[in-house]
Amino acid sequence: MSYRIAVIKGDGVGPEVIDEAKKVLDAVSYAYNFNLDYQDYLMGGAAIDRVGTPLPEETLKGALSSDAILFGAIGGEKWDTLPLEQRPEAGLLKLRKALDAFANLRPTLVYNELLEASTLKPNVIEGVDILVVRELTGGIYFGEPRGQDSHKGYNTMVYTVEEIQRVARVAFEIAMKRRKKICSVDKANVLEVSRLWREVVTQMANEYQEVELTHMYVDNAAMQLVRNPKQFDVILTGNLFGDILSDEASMISGSIGLLPSASIGSKVSLYEPIHGSAPDIARQGIANPIATIASASMMLRYSLKEESAANAIDRAIRKVLKEGYRTRDIASFGAKELCTTDGLGSIIAEYATEGK
Ligand code: IPM
Ligand code: MG
Repeated sequence: MSYRIAVIKGDGVGPEVIDEAKKVLDAVSYAYNFNLDYQDYLMGGAAIDRVGTPLPEETLKGALSSDAILFGAIGGEKWDTLPLEQRPEAGLLKLRKALDAFANLRPTLVYNELLEASTLKPNVIEGVDILVVRELTGGIYFGEPRGQDSHKGYNTMVYTVEEIQRVARVAFEIAMKRRKKICSVDKANVLEVSRLWREVVTQMANEYQEVELTHMYVDNAAMQLVRNPKQFDVILTGNLFGDILSDEASMISGSIGLLPSASIGSKVSLYEPIHGSAPDIARQGIANPIATIASASMMLRYSLKEESAANAIDRAIRKVLKEGYRTRDIASFGAKELCTTDGLGSIIAEYATEGK
């Protein structure tokens, strides 16, 4: 089999973590007998610098005609003064929208080897396995009207029934394959849009009798995530709340540098680490490539159906952590050897193909 992968390295640490993911993908594709045909595309600051726009037409076309998209990160101080629609982030938002990637899956799992790496107590986080399902192409990120003038700035949080239904369906289907629990997070005590959200999700639960559905206000959810994260299985929420809660949830695992994500919808899916471009640590070889390598594994599993290769990558990640190979972000916890971005990627690539 041969698959076309659109690769968007982006800015900051994006290029270096993507290089490691490709290294691991190359290793497993050879070992498991499939071919990956990569095509590089520009997006974000890199695209602004080269062609003057955060999402060039060519990137959009390339992404839409690929089998899957692997993406690093975008943004940086250099472009911070640009108007919103010209910023690097605008490129990513436009891409997600064009891909119709309405469901963003952000798993938080705790690696036992890194129990001490979290700022939370080991007994609070041991065994945590949460999946945040974040609505990604609607809500306040895209709602109209929006604008800014000299005396006000405004945005609109809006969801239609259909938008809520389709992301809720993804959450229910996934919950059926997990521990069959969904906590839907909203602000229904204040916002009409959240009242609708709650009604629609509650309605859908009738189709999934086995799934236990609960509702939580977002402020309480933020608190519960650090108080007792083990209570959660699937968290279903809107775009902005999901953005915030998934960053918070990531720290349960000890480092935001560990966690992958998949953005799926009706077209091509997009895989990216949940961390940003971290320009402050770019090009120093200290970024943790695990989040991006784990995103590549999700890509193999969900888009390419190369389950064995995906499993091999996940096992390899666990093994390097178990053996004490660490990048700087997690170095103070059980490190036997401090690795560079490139060094850690190489060991994961080697372990992922062991015995093949
Ligand atoms: C994320 C990021 C993006 C978002 C930014 C870069 C637009 O924070 O993927 O979580 O807010 O969705
Ligand atoms: Mg975010």
